[in-house]
Amino acid sequence: MRTHTLDHPLVASLLTTLRDERTPDSAFRAALRDLSGLLVYEALRDAQVEYYDIDTPVTATRGVRLARPPLLVPVLRAGLGMVEAATNLIPQSKVGFVGVARDERTHRPVPYLESLPEDLSTTPVMVLDPMLATGGSMVHTLKLLAGRGAMDITAVCVVSAPEGIAALAGSGLPVRLVTAVIDDRLDEDAFIVPGLGDAGDRQFGPR
Ligand code: PRP
Repeated sequence: MRTHTLDHPLVASLLTTLRDERTPDSAFRAALRDLSGLLVYEALRDAQVEYYDIDTPVTATRGVRLARPPLLVPVLRAGLGMVEAATNLIPQSKVGFVGVARDERTHRPVPYLESLPEDLSTTPVMVLDPMLATGGSMVHTLKLLAGRGAMDITAVCVVSAPEGIAALAGSGLPVRLVTAVIDDRLDEDAFIVPGLGDAGDRQFGPR
């Protein structure tokens, strides 16, 4: 599986804001939004474009647009905080939703919602979730997408654990990963170390 990390001072600084436990919820949401824009920018680096004619105030010239705007799929709840930046950058994008809550004891994903187009065979998909821990939530989401024919999927995450990356790679599903950083490991509660805590709780409060 292709995995891409972002080595950039702005990314490192936004990540620090997210990691710092003193960061209030409002600042956490703002930093997540800004970092999501940078991740989406990077995730689209090799996206297909198409050309069309436009006029500037001075002359005719060639314009560029995305040939196939991706379907954005935030994984609820935490992925919701990444949607605004993505739709701002890709206004043509449609948005689907997957809801999964990780069981605190077993760490297994418990699905509770799916709202996705039926046929994704010709649509690139960008899954948005700040955290890739065990990978259970992402693999569940990828299976839903692959079941609808998706063949071009990018998982966009802020912090990824090696265990989650291994789970994605081992799933055999058609996915590549764009992540701000790969952290050290999971702890005994399957939290990412050093991580940033629970990205859902820090945006929206405890479930
Ligand atoms: C967190 C996170 C991911 C998932 C990652 O969500 O936002 O979706 O856990 O863990 P995994 O890779 O081990 O599956 P959580 O279940 O806490 O729900 P929330 O976003 O509603 O807070």
